[in-house]
Amino acid sequence: CGIIGYTGARAVPPILLDGLKRLEYRGYDSSGMALAGAGMMAELKEVGKVARLEAALQAESGLREFTGCGIAHTRWATHGVPSTVNAHPHCDGKREFAIVHNGIVENHHELRSHLEKKGYRFRSQTDSEVIVHLIADAYNGDLLAATAAALRQVSGTYGLAVVSVHHPGLIVAARKGSPLVIGLGSGENLIASDIAALLTHTRQVIYLNDGDIAAISPESVDLRDISNVPVEREVANIDWDAAAAEKGNYPHFMLKEIFEQPETIENAIRGRINYEMGTAILNGLGFSPCELAQISRIVIAACGSSMHAGMVAEYYFEDIAGISTSVEQAAEFRYRNPIIEPNTLVIPISQSGETADTIAAVREAVGKGAYISALCNVVGSTIAREAGRGVYLHAGPEISVASTKAFSSQVAVLLLMALLLGRNRRLSRSEGCELVREIEQTPELIRSVLAQAEEIRAIAKRYAGFDDFFYIGRGCLYPTALEGALKLKEISYVHAEGYHAAELKHGPISLLDERHPVLALANDIPGRDKILGNIQECRARRAPVVAVATAGDREVENLTDDVIFIPHCSRFIAPLPTTVALQLFAYYIAVERGCEIDQPRNLAKSVTVE
Ligand code: G6P
Repeated sequence: CGIIGYTGARAVPPILLDGLKRLEYRGYDSSGMALAGAGMMAELKEVGKVARLEAALQAESGLREFTGCGIAHTRWATHGVPSTVNAHPHCDGKREFAIVHNGIVENHHELRSHLEKKGYRFRSQTDSEVIVHLIADAYNGDLLAATAAALRQVSGTYGLAVVSVHHPGLIVAARKGSPLVIGLGSGENLIASDIAALLTHTRQVIYLNDGDIAAISPESVDLRDISNVPVEREVANIDWDAAAAEKGNYPHFMLKEIFEQPETIENAIRGRINYEMGTAILNGLGFSPCELAQISRIVIAACGSSMHAGMVAEYYFEDIAGISTSVEQAAEFRYRNPIIEPNTLVIPISQSGETADTIAAVREAVGKGAYISALCNVVGSTIAREAGRGVYLHAGPEISVASTKAFSSQVAVLLLMALLLGRNRRLSRSEGCELVREIEQTPELIRSVLAQAEEIRAIAKRYAGFDDFFYIGRGCLYPTALEGALKLKEISYVHAEGYHAAELKHGPISLLDERHPVLALANDIPGRDKILGNIQECRARRAPVVAVATAGDREVENLTDDVIFIPHCSRFIAPLPTTVALQLFAYYIAVERGCEIDQPRNLAKSVTVE
């Protein structure tokens, strides 16, 4: 879900709407805003996209130019179906207070029955609504104190913003487990769940820590902890380009981000290579050569596409650096009591740095005394800060819900990490230099895949009518197959399964027939000959086969119905250009099927609940 709030002299609704649109990728099943002035509270909510809220506001001529302060929210439903009553903001019965909330109130049943007994009437089925009644109940002339008192009763997580008719121009914001950032302007201030919503207004931000609570007026920001003791937080300067959060001439953010990949990979590797020594320079990792040499095991914890990047890296760390590596679904990590031996390095991977399950994994790893180095894209995000050290991707804002450029940058940075660890161990200087050369060629390889976008589109058109796909690969291309299938599922609502090519015959092959196309990753790397055998097995069941293969591979071409050719590259690099081809394939299928690409139904960019 996304939160935006504004206090200052400008008209509030346009700023809130603009912020909501920039946050819409975090959830979009309903949205709403509350505008608070002296003695007045206006509340507007709509089911569906932010455009519907905008249309509703157009009809309210008295509110369009409202000045003072306001808070707004775009929702990804957890408790309660998407509906107008369940949309945020939530007001108390007398409409003196309004809140927007991200996170989950775990003890909401108990709090609700307690409040109902006291006479408070609930309107929604959400867990969030209890917070506004708790604030109304605790209010005694001081909004910050009432909010703090309310939150002391809440167990669970929150990113919260509160306004009140008794305090025009004041927003109280609080954070525990769900991100909030204050944007500092001149004569105005903002609050948002995500810096993407602030970039057009300011580059000066304060990240709230868990347990922080702030009173924000146009001229000042008063920061406290939950016990009302003043705290100091650093002002950070954001260098993201606001244009990076705009679509430009592309029809969708996803296509724009796919096409950005040559540059985002360049950004991920820039300044991070020591050519002389054939190694990587990753100062953010924060390890001395001696500490690096001690790392005896790597555990990667991540979700979704980030987990797939981790699965590619499992091959890198074992093959290049000789370090035993396992990849954990972040959601399982803390519940299965993982074994963290001394000298285990835990690498949480998260584009947003805010995924609840990955945050929980970081905390578990910290508690178990592991070395931690995080891989995040969003600077200053919770995981980046809690891990304390790590490597940023520098991929710029990723807006499309389906991850593309963050995934490829993660893979590129993980390859640099493996190179560094490898050079610290068994990899020779000449092998290191060879790998550096290969890494440096990646942007060019990706450009040549992008140059074939029209051919890939033509192939995608031929397959857009199918409803079930299998993606198969081996080695590093096995997780690549998983990622390709995930892209198709996410944006085209087509059933797609990624499988290890050898596993196909242990069950799923029973499904194959002419209605089940197979995407076979048959690049000319170790395992290709075996994949050719697997392709034969699929064809024998009349499944149409689309291959990704190395340019000039006539054998694969003759064996399959369609081929996407990738320039020759080594097994470590192959996942990158191959993924780009699969991203384009999924994108064009979704276009053909008329799907909502940047914001697929039911998904959210950052899943900030467990
Ligand atoms: C959500 C997104 C995915 C993403 C995953 C992990 O499910 O829809 O695209 O891969 O979260 O997100 P993270 O920000 O932790 O990489």
